[in-house]
Amino acid sequence: MEQLLAPIKQFLHCETPDEWLIEAIKTENLPTILIDHLVCELKAGQSAMYLIRKYAVDKESGQVLLEWLKPFETYAYKKEGDWRELPKFNRLTKSVVPKANSKYGQDLVDKMVLLIKEELHHFYQVLEIMDECNIEYVNITSSRYASGMISHVTTHEPNTLIDKLIIGAYIEARSCERFAKLAPLVNKRLGDFYVSLLRSEARHYQDYLALAEQIAGKDISERIRFFGEREAELILTSDDDFKFHSGVPIVFNDEC
Ligand SMILES: [Fe+2]
Ligand SMILES: [Fe+2]
Repeated sequence: MEQLLAPIKQFLHCETPDEWLIEAIKTENLPTILIDHLVCELKAGQSAMYLIRKYAVDKESGQVLLEWLKPFETYAYKKEGDWRELPKFNRLTKSVVPKANSKYGQDLVDKMVLLIKEELHHFYQVLEIMDECNIEYVNITSSRYASGMISHVTTHEPNTLIDKLIIGAYIEARSCERFAKLAPLVNKRLGDFYVSLLRSEARHYQDYLALAEQIAGKDISERIRFFGEREAELILTSDDDFKFHSGVPIVFNDEC
C-alpha cells in the first residue's frame, strides 16, 4: 500500500487534515460519506465519457457510450430500476471506434473505457455496502471541490482538455489518499472495500496524468503545480459543507 501511495502523496500538495477524518468516521456522517462517494463514482464515469465523446469518437460511437451509462444514471437521478441488476448493464454493446484523424484517440478511448467500467463497478459496490448498512439513497448536493477546480480551466484547446485531464488526476489521487487514510479507522468491511479501491484509483490518476502529458507534448509541470495548489486550497480551507472531498469541516457547537 505504501508503494502505491508514495507517488500520490508526492503529487498532492497536502495530506487530508485530521479534522476531516474525525468527521468522516462519525457514525452519523456515514450516510453522507457513502452517498457522496456513490455519486462521485458515477460522476467519474460521466466525466471520462464526456472526454471520449467530445475529443475521441464520432457521433455513432458517442451514442453507444451514452447507452452504456443510461441505466446507472436512471437509477441515480430517477431512482428507477433495481440496483442489483446494474452489473449486467456494465458493458459496451458495440465497439467504440476512435475518429480517424485523432492523434491520441485510441489511447484516450482505451484508458477511459477501462476507467468507466471500473467506476461503474465501484458505483455498484457502494450500493451493496449502503444496502448492508440500511442506508437509503437520497439526493444530495455536490461539494464545492470539483466545481472549484473546473472554474480554473482554460477556455481554448488543447489546453482545455489538458486542464481537465490534470483535474481528473487530482480528483483520483485525492480519493485514493482519503480511502487509504480512512481504511484503518472504519469497520473491517468498509476498510477492506476502501483498500480494494486503491489500486484502480491509483491507476486512474496515472492514466489521466499520462494522457495530459502525451496530448500536451511539452512540459506541463507548471500547470500541474497550479492545479495542485488550487486543490490543496480546497482541502485546507474551512468548508461548511461536509462531503467526501470537502475542506476542513466547520463543526457547529450546539451550545453556541
Ligand atoms: Fe472509483
Ligand atoms: Fe477512479
